[in-house]
Amino acid sequence: MRTKIAPSILSADFSAMGKAIEKLEKSGADLVHCDVMDGSFVEPITFGGQMLKNIRPLTKLPLDAHLMVEHPKSQIKFFAEAGADIITVHYKACAAISETYLEETLKLIKSYGLKCGAVVNPDVPVEKIFDVFPLCDMVVLMSVYPGYGGQKFIPEVLPKIRAARAYAENIGRPDMDIEIDGGVTEENAEEIRAAGANVLVAGSAVFKSPDMAATIARLKR
Ligand code: DX5
Ligand code: ZN
Repeated sequence: MRTKIAPSILSADFSAMGKAIEKLEKSGADLVHCDVMDGSFVEPITFGGQMLKNIRPLTKLPLDAHLMVEHPKSQIKFFAEAGADIITVHYKACAAISETYLEETLKLIKSYGLKCGAVVNPDVPVEKIFDVFPLCDMVVLMSVYPGYGGQKFIPEVLPKIRAARAYAENIGRPDMDIEIDGGVTEENAEEIRAAGANVLVAGSAVFKSPDMAATIARLKR
């Protein structure tokens, strides 16, 4: 499978976001990863739908909205209207509300004609979301605890990637997107890809690089 790189704009200079988006597209990024934090599900607050609405006209790249928020169902309309292409929501935020909330939220995202995905934290077994795999276009395995960019990759995610890829194949979805989020670097990208992930989020690795295009190319190789 072709590897796709999703740079996280969390690591961009927010005062020059337009320029950052244009540079990402020119540098060979495949998606724009938008880390939405609500100050409750995770401590920091980043941005909401308005950011996606403003960057939408600046790029043809798909906008990958990673919602680190409580009550994600109430937020879907804002991100759909803002022009997100894919919206992912956390298992933990949904399970805190009800057993069916994750499935309902994924179906709501799909009702807008968008791609959807479920996210699990490092301490949550991927098996917890196996029942919603058939609904998902992408599953996201966090390789850091959400909230901050620039953290260290947690290698215990590697067997989870293998389990997710094997399960996707089992249910006849061998091409399902499996995204890894957190601590991805040029040094660990190869083992992450070899385990079966095909979408790599990279915040600091891309934005701190002196040559963004070269870093993106190396992350893909
Ligand atoms: C963490 C975010 C990640 C993070 C990735 O809460 O979901 O997307 O910004 O940044 P790096 O690549 O620096 O770990
Ligand atoms: Zn993210």
